[in-house]
Amino acid sequence: MRDIDSKRIDLRSDTVTQPTMEMRQAMSKAVVGDDVLGDDPTVQRLESMISELCGKDAGLFVPSGTMSNAVALKTHTTPGDEIITERYSHIYLYEGGGYAALCGSSIALPEGQNGLLSPELVEKSIRKQKGSQSHYPDGSLVCVENTANRGGGTCYQQDVLDAIAEVSKSKNCSTHIDGARIFNATVATNTPLSRMTRDYDSVSICLSKGLGAPVGSVLVGSNEFIEQAHRWRKMFGGGMRQSGILAAAGIYAIENNIERMEKDHARAKTIARAIDEMDHVSVDVDAVQTNMVYFSANDYTASEVSQKMAKAGIDMFDISPTHCRIVTHLHITDEDVQGVIEALASLG
Ligand SMILES: Cc1ncc(COP(=O)(O)O)c(C=O)c1O
Repeated sequence: MRDIDSKRIDLRSDTVTQPTMEMRQAMSKAVVGDDVLGDDPTVQRLESMISELCGKDAGLFVPSGTMSNAVALKTHTTPGDEIITERYSHIYLYEGGGYAALCGSSIALPEGQNGLLSPELVEKSIRKQKGSQSHYPDGSLVCVENTANRGGGTCYQQDVLDAIAEVSKSKNCSTHIDGARIFNATVATNTPLSRMTRDYDSVSICLSKGLGAPVGSVLVGSNEFIEQAHRWRKMFGGGMRQSGILAAAGIYAIENNIERMEKDHARAKTIARAIDEMDHVSVDVDAVQTNMVYFSANDYTASEVSQKMAKAGIDMFDISPTHCRIVTHLHITDEDVQGVIEALASLG
């Protein structure tokens, strides 16, 4: 049974997850203080928990993944720099152009495979002012997204992540991971978080996606980096007061909701395999590596598919004119999966 009171099957995103009763209990017991004054022990515990898991010095609790990326980009760059990120990355597509407005940066957009960059693409995309008679901006920051949302929830192989960091460093670029769903990646690839993030300067991790917390992200990096980031968080209005009540949800999620993501991945795979068996809908099963399924229908636009599914009580996004996206998460059950498969079959 779904552990929230809803008759609809909501597959729009893992951001729709609501705190469970146990998580709400953990929140209600949180010891709090004024975190802007550095007084909130629960926020401090969450920040050190996540920075330790990443093998970094320090962490910073912020209200959203977008702010976490914005603070990271601002900390790593100076106006006139260029940021290198994948063509369909969240940083480029869905963060309101913050790289331009907040950092004064331009952006280089190599197009990877299923949202994933290669070291060769990154190397080719880094431009430097030096040697260009100042024609080029200074490429100074390389960002990767793991898992890659618009890539279909795909994960980097560790050797590729390592090689991207190496080539970036060799060209004097800082490195950032948009790890909004990095725990989906660690679970899917069975890689410890500290190993995955070892060669990267900063990592942004969302608590309010598959982990199921209501609010918040944590940005991690060196002490020096986080000290600078703290200043930008303040300027962006992200300093929160008794935010331990939110951090407690994050701690609960880290302690209880990571391993269970395997179930979300298995359910996404079950849906993808079923779609693959149907003639009227198509999916790249190999690209279904975590909790997302991107698929298309032969005879309908994506918006027609999402409208028909909505009539059957199933919500999903049409993410492009051709493709719909299904995202599994902690409120999706095996019965829901069967319901989704039946509704998709009836489109034929
Ligand atoms: C890959 C990725 N990065 C960053 C974000 C931003 O997170 P938020 O919606 O909390 O700002 C999202 C949100 O879905 C995302 O998918």
